[in-house]
Amino acid sequence: MGCLVQFLIIFFIQRISAISNERQAIIKSTLDRLLEEDYDIRLRPQYGADPLSVGMSIQVASIDSVSEVNMDYTLTLNFQQSWRDERLAFDGLNLNLTLDNRVVDKIWVPDTYFVNDKKSYIHTVTRSNKMLRIEEDGTIFYGLRVTTDLACMMNLRRYPMDEQNCTLEIESYGYTTDDIRFHMLGDIGVTGVENLKLAQFKVTNSRLLIKNITFATGSYPRVSLSFLLKRNIGFFILQTYLPCSLITILSWVSFWINHEATAARVALGITTVLTVTTISTNVRQSLPKIPDIKALDVYLICCFVFVFLALLEYAMVNCTYYGNMARQTKAKLRRKLTEALEAEESAKSANFAAQFSGGSKETIRYCDEESTSPGSIHQIAAGWSDNEENAIRHISTCPHANHARPLPTRRRNVGFNVATQGRARSMHNAANGKRRGQPSRNSVGKKRKGYASRAKKSLSALKVPKISDVSIIDKVARVAFPASFAIFNFVYWTYYIFF
Ligand SMILES: *[C@@H]1O[C@H](CO)[C@@H](O)[C@H](O)[C@H]1NC(C)=O
Ligand SMILES: *[C@@H]1O[C@H](CO)[C@@H](O)[C@H](O)[C@H]1NC(C)=O
Ligand SMILES: *[C@@H]1O[C@H](CO)[C@@H](O)[C@H](O)[C@H]1NC(C)=O
Repeated sequence: MGCLVQFLIIFFIQRISAISNERQAIIKSTLDRLLEEDYDIRLRPQYGADPLSVGMSIQVASIDSVSEVNMDYTLTLNFQQSWRDERLAFDGLNLNLTLDNRVVDKIWVPDTYFVNDKKSYIHTVTRSNKMLRIEEDGTIFYGLRVTTDLACMMNLRRYPMDEQNCTLEIESYGYTTDDIRFHMLGDIGVTGVENLKLAQFKVTNSRLLIKNITFATGSYPRVSLSFLLKRNIGFFILQTYLPCSLITILSWVSFWINHEATAARVALGITTVLTVTTISTNVRQSLPKIPDIKALDVYLICCFVFVFLALLEYAMVNCTYYGNMARQTKAKLRRKLTEALEAEESAKSANFAAQFSGGSKETIRYCDEESTSPGSIHQIAAGWSDNEENAIRHISTCPHANHARPLPTRRRNVGFNVATQGRARSMHNAANGKRRGQPSRNSVGKKRKGYASRAKKSLSALKVPKISDVSIIDKVARVAFPASFAIFNFVYWTYYIFF
């Protein structure tokens, strides 16, 4: 019994191997016959008859990179073509002949090429990525896996809010429409587009078009597959727009810094200008040197203009502020001086008049008071050194100062100190004028009061401007700069997003 089973098993194995050997022999002879006997690789199928219809199917594997500098993009695709070569039809095998790239060289294949291709290669790992399948009726499927750099002319005027239409153009190199027609295999012909993932773009649309292109040598069939690539602006918002706007806003801080802090405001202005320059230099590196003004350029240039104007604003503030201050101080001092001189003149003439009329006690006293009064003369000495001598001279011109009666020490001191002592002393004198004045004489008390108030006035004229002083230009800039930047942003984004 065991012997019988063993015999049967051996019999069947032998039988099967005999059949498979027999079958392989048939396939081999079929293939030999197909490829060698009477097959002329130089002639296309249906030579001299109707044009050959070549079907195509494209499976997009990936779009690897899009380069603005080179104006191209890299595409990896599985590209299949199918046509019917009746010379390769066979029967009696009941199978499809699937072969590899070595057989491809032995049969006729269409001479399709990528029109906008710059450089491409067929993957060779682990073997050359080509496939060939021959069906019983002679229909051939020929597929290969290609990576290709395709030229894509980009319009960068709206960069980075742009949308690029990049194409893949497939054409027959030598056969005109009289020899070859193209059609797509299956319903769509193109697959894999919806799965494409790109770092910087989103594929929003793709379109397939079959057309005839006419050259001097004839009309050629062409399949044109186009992708609409929309750039993601997120990267640019983070990388360029946000830093740029923040730097611009930073430059406005200067308007809230006191205009006397020259170092702080100039440093802030120059730093912001340089930062915007650096940002725009970085951005330009990844772009071709085209003359078009891109949307990003518009923004960067405007940011630059804003920070530049902020710096200029400070120059203006500085200029007007110090110019005004010098002018005002000068004018006030001049007015005070004229007043003082006039007072002296009138005192002098009064004295002379008194002298000629007999020299009353009153007049001499008056002269005395005038010559030692601190208010009119000290202020000049303190603020205007040119007039120090003048002031001394006026004091000494009082004719009866020494004769009327001996001067108290204090008075003499005052007279000498006009030229030598500082403002502090004169302020002191002015403030104490009334208290030290002689209370018994009403007229003198009144006069002293007048000098004190005059001294106070002159002090306020000489005072350094308050720290809280804000230039009117700064006040305007605090509103004008943010407002105009906001308007600019509104116009910019409205224009580029909606138009
Ligand atoms: C050969 O492949 C086609 C599809 O490409 C299929 O329809 C057909 O059934 C296959 N033939 C055999 C004998 O398997
Ligand atoms: C790309 O441009 C071509 C012509 O320039 C046009 O025929 C095609 O429809 C465009 N592609 C898309 C997806 O809009
Ligand atoms: C291309 O030309 C052929 C022959 O001239 C014509 O039959 C075919 O319709 C044309 N195809 C297109 C898309 O115009």
